[in-house]
Amino acid sequence: MNVAIIGCGVMGKMHAEMAVRCGLKVVVCADNFQKAANELAQKYGADSTNNSQPALSRDDVDIVVIATPTTTHAALVQAAAKEGKHIFCEKPFCRTVAECKSSIDVAKEHGVKLFIGHVVRYFQEFEAVRAQLQQGVVGEPGFAHLYRGGAYPAGQDNWFQNYKLSGGVTLDCMIHDLDWIRFVFGEPERIFCQALQRSNPETLDYSQVTMRMKSGLIAKVIGTWAHPSGFHVKIEVCGSKGMVQFDSNDVPLTSERRGEGAAVGTIVPSSPVLKSPYLLEWEDFLGWLEGRHEPRVTPEDGLHAVAMATAALKSAETKAPVTL
Ligand SMILES: NC(=O)c1ccc[n+]([C@@H]2O[C@H](COP(=O)([O-])OP(=O)(O)OC[C@H]3O[C@@H](n4cnc5c(N)ncnc54)[C@H](O)[C@@H]3O)[C@@H](O)[C@H]2O)c1
Repeated sequence: MNVAIIGCGVMGKMHAEMAVRCGLKVVVCADNFQKAANELAQKYGADSTNNSQPALSRDDVDIVVIATPTTTHAALVQAAAKEGKHIFCEKPFCRTVAECKSSIDVAKEHGVKLFIGHVVRYFQEFEAVRAQLQQGVVGEPGFAHLYRGGAYPAGQDNWFQNYKLSGGVTLDCMIHDLDWIRFVFGEPERIFCQALQRSNPETLDYSQVTMRMKSGLIAKVIGTWAHPSGFHVKIEVCGSKGMVQFDSNDVPLTSERRGEGAAVGTIVPSSPVLKSPYLLEWEDFLGWLEGRHEPRVTPEDGLHAVAMATAALKSAETKAPVTL
């Protein structure tokens, strides 16, 4: 099968590599920024364009990868679906729940498969935690604490700093953990969020969510784009029989100064394992396309994750809990 990459920034490059590792061919790379399209196309011997529509409507394209800023996802997903292409769309699925719903409808209407890249469901350490929970190691889970973040990402034209486009750390980054909590513990009931969204003198975004799940579990989720550099992930689940935890950065006291090692592009969390979680999500997507199994992430999961993150942003704005 042949692939069109729409958006040739950090994640477009990542998905082109994963698609090729799965034996697919990248035939066209599209980006508003022609230089980005040219550079990626050159790497894979593909065509390049600064116009997405002709790229996603090509007869030789079977799969369209959407790795553009979040507000562009709905229009691109719907355009690709109308051309009868299967779609791999980066998370967040769309900027709004209404856009997620209309995109799901268009994909269904045109009979195409739509996958949302909630890659944390494929990270091996998160899978190890989930396996321990399923095996009953912690007994009845009561409290989950997840933490994710690092330096403020630097996307093309600084789009991450525009909350209307990215939704900040809460919608763009914490959404991974909100999705994982729902994946593992079921539906949320109520969400409360406090967020520091400072743009002067430094751009800092720090968001703290507390959530009650319908199961009774309480979750605390922290997302930060306020560190001088790096990326850090933590997870802890406590239950009636014990605790399971993971910390990507278990080190003694450290300090660092802002400006040293600042982010270039988005920081994509690294994984010490041999098989990238980004490859695992591609294998899952392709297994679904080939009719071998159902995917671990459905478009409805993508929609629910956007709904949770949107509720968190509303809570931060209104300073009141939001019932889901
Ligand atoms: N799963 C993950 O780990 C992960 C990590 C980072 C980002 N993301 C998501 O991936 C998506 C892309 O983020 P990124 O970090 O690659 O951003 P980026 O800024 O590095 O790249 C985005 C590219 O899209 C191009 N673009 C913008 N509008 C376009 C349009 N309408 N048509 C074609 N090209 C267009 C830009 O010129 C840019 O080159 C976002 O939705 C982001 O939330 C996911």
